[in-house]
Amino acid sequence: MELKIPLLIIVLFSCNLVNSRREPSPKLKNVVPITKGQIFPKPQNQVTFDNRNILNKKNFHFEYSKESQVCDVISIAFNRYYKIIFGSQYLRNMNDVPSQLKSDASSLNRLLVNVHEPCEEYPSLESDESYTLEISTGLASLESKTLWGALRGLESFSQLVVELDDGSLSVNNTLVNDFPRFNHRGILLDTSRHYIRPSILKVHLDAMEANKMNVFHWHIVDDQSFPYVSYTYPELSKMGAYNPYTHVYTSQDVKEIIEYARLRGIRVVAEFDSPGHTESWGKGVPILTNCYDGEKPTNEFGPIDPTKNLTYSFLKTFVKELTQVFPDKYLHLGGDEVDFSCWESNPAITDFMKEKGYGKNYSKLEEYYMQNLLDIVNEVSPKTGYIIWQEVVDNNVVVKPDTVVEVWKDPWPEEMAMVTNLGYRALLSTCWYLNYISYGDDWIKYYNCEPMDFKGTDEQKSLVIGGEACMWGEYVDGSNVISRTWPRASAVAERLWSAQNVTSVRDAQGRIEEQRCRMLKRGIKAEPFNGSGHCEYEVEN
Ligand SMILES: *[C@@H]1O[C@H](CO)[C@@H](O)[C@H](O)[C@H]1NC(C)=O
Ligand SMILES: *[C@@H]1O[C@H](CO)[C@@H](O)[C@H](O)[C@H]1NC(C)=O
Ligand SMILES: *[C@@H]1O[C@H](CO)[C@@H](O)[C@H](O)[C@H]1NC(C)=O
Ligand SMILES: *[C@@H]1O[C@H](CO)[C@@H](O)[C@H](O)[C@H]1NC(C)=O
Ligand SMILES: *[C@@H]1O[C@H](CO)[C@@H](O)[C@H](O)[C@H]1NC(C)=O
Repeated sequence: MELKIPLLIIVLFSCNLVNSRREPSPKLKNVVPITKGQIFPKPQNQVTFDNRNILNKKNFHFEYSKESQVCDVISIAFNRYYKIIFGSQYLRNMNDVPSQLKSDASSLNRLLVNVHEPCEEYPSLESDESYTLEISTGLASLESKTLWGALRGLESFSQLVVELDDGSLSVNNTLVNDFPRFNHRGILLDTSRHYIRPSILKVHLDAMEANKMNVFHWHIVDDQSFPYVSYTYPELSKMGAYNPYTHVYTSQDVKEIIEYARLRGIRVVAEFDSPGHTESWGKGVPILTNCYDGEKPTNEFGPIDPTKNLTYSFLKTFVKELTQVFPDKYLHLGGDEVDFSCWESNPAITDFMKEKGYGKNYSKLEEYYMQNLLDIVNEVSPKTGYIIWQEVVDNNVVVKPDTVVEVWKDPWPEEMAMVTNLGYRALLSTCWYLNYISYGDDWIKYYNCEPMDFKGTDEQKSLVIGGEACMWGEYVDGSNVISRTWPRASAVAERLWSAQNVTSVRDAQGRIEEQRCRMLKRGIKAEPFNGSGHCEYEVEN
């Protein structure tokens, strides 16, 4: 009892000490600068003027021009962007616009949208996302070839609208002529190491739209769990999911994710990685290699067994299902990190290797499996294209000429040169593994990674279709996936959208700070990324 009182005093005293350190000092004054009303990622061309236009919630509307195509995706986006601009819980009452602003600003009552080409159902690798936005004294128009470009233009328009000190919403006269540098701007999320609820995947898709990213690479299954509910092989998730009732993606969930993404111009590219990374598959379907200890089988299983007939009859049915469930032209077939030790221990595989004349070269067995898998894809769905991890071509597997190879290992410049030299299209992800975290401004190294920085001809460079930020799931689930991915992925978003010479870290800092604050305003809990600072729209819980 007697001891506690001095302790309390010490505690109070030390709190005071901490407080006294909060006196303004040059170091603590160092906060991240923040821009206001800058489009993110930085557009290819933009001119801004000083004339202001005031938007009023009551009379502002989006409207198609007379010549425009009318697309459901765009009509639905009108509602979404109206809410983004006017519906934020953070906005103050805007009915009471001060007279001073009324006198020196015009009022802007509509954005006229003109989509030139017929509506498409789904975005694709070839989609044109260019748009032109023109705001001039009471008039605003958005022109695009495709509906996907119109979506990007609506995003930019919503970002130009800022809240002034008196609570009114304003947009300056502006001309924007914009298009992405790369067509494939992706993010990989892993939902096998940890499950992530569909509602959180949707928040992630909102963040992707806000950053103009357009491919959700869904690394849906892996060794640890198989949450995808298959209708041809329901045992896969029944036995392979962490929980077959609560930790799965039903066909309804998958449909909803694909639709949510489609409405935002985002492709869903599903990855079913094999022959490695498949432990969870083996619980439902007996296709894995039984590992041996000498003569005796152990209870351990290795990669898919390429020598079993069941393997290929399973793959035929299952791949066919996948090409029917996922509408994108591309399936990601994985092919990375195959561990040969279990194959080496298995006597039936040893016999098979002898029979085929592979000697002790297990890369040849891997090649044999991948070749069969690719042939099956060609057979059950000739229009399906595939994306694969780099090991497949590193191991000399012959793939279709329109295959996309995803580079993830160092040294990546050599690999990009090799892959494009073989004539394949390439995606870079090596320098964008966001799951590696560290204290401090780690976004800068993501921002500085330039996918064209490798030795190659112009023709080789033209085969680089973009890149992907990756968020692997060992230490990530619904509790932190949004804050850990955003806004660090925004650095990648700008690298993949903006012109090659947009490289100033100092400039980007202020824009990303605004972008993070904008995401908070939209209910996306993006973390502070570059040190001290503040956002008007603090999260509430
Ligand atoms: C933000 O990052 C830059 C670059 O590393 C650094 O110079 C600056 O001090 C950082 N800002 C804050 C507030 O820490
Ligand atoms: C918009 O115009 C005002 C003057 O009316 C100016 O102060 C402000 O900097 C402009 N905003 C941008 C983003 O250029
Ligand atoms: C596997 O398929 C091959 C080729 O169709 C056939 O020759 C072989 O007998 C089959 N093996 C078994 C065990 O069914
Ligand atoms: C093993 O096979 C692969 C694929 O065919 C080939 O690229 C590699 O050179 C072979 N390795 C050896 C040591 O023969
Ligand atoms: C990038 O290049 C374009 C075209 O040459 C030029 O207009 C623009 O000012 C440059 N931007 C930067 C940030 O250097």
